[in-house]
Amino acid sequence: ANPKPWGGRFAAATDRSVEAFTASIDVDARLVDVDIRASQAHARMLAARGVLTPEEAETLVAGLEEVRRRLKTGEFRLDPALEDVHMNVEHLLARVVGPVAGKLHTGRSRNDQVATDMHLYMKEAIERLIAAVRELQRALLEKAEAHLDVIMPGYTHLQRAQPVLFAHHLLAYFWMLERDAGRLADARKRADWCPLGAAALAGTGFPLDREMVARELGFARVYPNSMDAVSDRDYLLEFLSAGSILAMHLSRLCEELVLWSSEEFGFIELDDAYCTGSSIMPQKKNPDVAELVRAKTGRVYGALFGLLTVLKGLPLTYNRDLQEDKHGVFDALDTLEAALPLCAGMIRTMRVRADRMAAALENDFSAATDLADYLVERGVPFREAHRIVGELVLDCIRQGRRLQDLTADELRARSAHFGPDALERLSPRAVVAARRLYGGTAREAVERQLAEARAMLEEA
Ligand code: ARG
Repeated sequence: ANPKPWGGRFAAATDRSVEAFTASIDVDARLVDVDIRASQAHARMLAARGVLTPEEAETLVAGLEEVRRRLKTGEFRLDPALEDVHMNVEHLLARVVGPVAGKLHTGRSRNDQVATDMHLYMKEAIERLIAAVRELQRALLEKAEAHLDVIMPGYTHLQRAQPVLFAHHLLAYFWMLERDAGRLADARKRADWCPLGAAALAGTGFPLDREMVARELGFARVYPNSMDAVSDRDYLLEFLSAGSILAMHLSRLCEELVLWSSEEFGFIELDDAYCTGSSIMPQKKNPDVAELVRAKTGRVYGALFGLLTVLKGLPLTYNRDLQEDKHGVFDALDTLEAALPLCAGMIRTMRVRADRMAAALENDFSAATDLADYLVERGVPFREAHRIVGELVLDCIRQGRRLQDLTADELRARSAHFGPDALERLSPRAVVAARRLYGGTAREAVERQLAEARAMLEEA
């Protein structure tokens, strides 16, 4: 005999190693709250449709509440021998209410039950995650607002390119995160379908009211196809794809924090609270948090690729393989939920070293484009202007000078179009101020961008 809930068809007990291998309770224990809520909705609906008596349903609903309470106090414990969270809850319910607990699973399978639990869980988890993305956006926006006058080198190829406002650079991440929030909200839409009522795969002969359950649990609608309902994991893939892109953005942000906080850049100093030291080198203050956020991107990508691989080639409908959806999804979720507030904290507390950024700009050629633009404004074709200024740059490099060290005469020797005011174009402030168009780095353009960003955050 086999004492499992499904043991009737078995003559012998399950091997211990099989129990250990197939159990998912260590991973799905966190579904206990949604599992109980979904079961309560199911029980109420069974009574509404006359499948259970109102008294039976009341007993089940109250019993499930009692299970939740006793699990919380530690009086009840989840047992790995009972495989998963669903069988654990049902077993504990029987301890509270007796044999009537056996009526709860009427017209239901663990296949639609686990799918419903995961949909419910992910809807709420994605909402939390979006809120955390919003917090990081807020941190970036406030830091940008507080440092509107700071100019830094902007880079392409990690070579100094053109000066930009530090606020402009920070806000670039605001918009990446805006798209991340949109992608997550989109993934959440697909998690908003209720699978319950699909039963094992084909639906059930009991007159269930699927709409009622969906309504009570706050779902937008029910799945129209029972086979799809129990085997769909697309919504998890969407969450993981959106999560992977988000993790990639966090990684890029953190890479910049690492670079900027190095002595070579020295553009920022991370707060002590977000750094750690070395066990051997007393002088060290390392950006380990930023590094780990960068590194943990790998776990999120891994979860996406892991689940894609699990799903590939699975025949319809439910296969036990699908149990493997949870580990990676929860790990990705936990990783992102930990990383987002840490990133916000690093941004909020970091010290901006405007002097170091200004010093970096003093010794570069990042005003070269503007010197060429000066000639273009006086009728010189851009390609020719580009060459003239390129030659000036080469002169400077050979002589160990900077563009701003050139005299008006030296400029005029290269082109008669250079007037004495050309040198005024070379200051980082002038270069930044020139880029007033929408989306550009001039202060008024960045202020406009800030207002747009703030409005977006407020209506989100
Ligand atoms: N624990 C399983 C999962 O997470 C649900 C149980 C379905 N098991 C089954 N033998 N049909 O997918």
